[in-house]
Amino acid sequence: MNLVTTITEAKLLIRNKKSRGASIGFVPTMGALHEGHLQLIRRSCAENDFTVCSIFVNPIQFNNPEDLKKYPRTLDRDEKLLDGAGCDLIFVPGTDEMYPDNQADDLDIDFGMLDKVMEGKYRPGHFKGVAVVVKKLFEIVAPDRAYFGKKDFQQLAIIQHLVKSLSMPVTIVPCNTVREPDGLAMSSRNMRLSASERLIAPRIYEVLSKVKDELDRKSVAEVKIWATRSIEEVAGLSVEYFEISDQETLLPIQQAGAKDRAVAFVAVKLGEVRLIDNIELFS
Ligand code: PAF
Repeated sequence: MNLVTTITEAKLLIRNKKSRGASIGFVPTMGALHEGHLQLIRRSCAENDFTVCSIFVNPIQFNNPEDLKKYPRTLDRDEKLLDGAGCDLIFVPGTDEMYPDNQADDLDIDFGMLDKVMEGKYRPGHFKGVAVVVKKLFEIVAPDRAYFGKKDFQQLAIIQHLVKSLSMPVTIVPCNTVREPDGLAMSSRNMRLSASERLIAPRIYEVLSKVKDELDRKSVAEVKIWATRSIEEVAGLSVEYFEISDQETLLPIQQAGAKDRAVAFVAVKLGEVRLIDNIELFS
């Protein structure tokens, strides 16, 4: 496995593989890797000849400077995990390499409501930052396939829209959320939970997994109130939003009958950590 830090080196290595007919799989990350990331890497290795993982804590997608400062950075450990999972190349650019002279590329794409609801509403500018960096990474790596977890369902919708709008020649492969045995969705942010916070965090998925049944006997509005209360019943959990939305438009559904196309989304504050999760209601 190789590790490079410059765009020139990354392009050279990848173009070399491509010129020999290798297919390229790509897993963009911000590091602090967990089993969820490793499953993306393993899937990429199974479906492509050469797998690239980027590790870049992208400053322009953080709307909260404290969150950026405290984002876990575990490069040595990440390297070992990636090697074990079969990754071929790690690209670890610095901020100057990605944004010379502090200049991020501009991006003029209309995401409609996709970047205005839920995470878009509570983290203004976040998805613009994600779209800018993913576009740049796709231009550098030129992957055939790129792998993203459905835990960040809204991010996935933004990236699919980006790729379609710019006709980028990459297939986006959505991958199921990987959970701890107690149901908590794996996330780099889980590392920041205290032992007592970690004990109560699984309540989020416990409630999410009951939403589908609740919709059989309650209206959408009632289920939203029920879910919010059921999560907040546990002291320390505070719901930022709970939505039941269409899987494509991400707009809230009004009637329980529309649940066949819907996903339930939640963002919860737990001490200093903000966790998001979702569940598809149509499966
Ligand atoms: O999901 C993430 O880790 C990041 O948002 C991504 C896609 C690597 C862009 O910085």
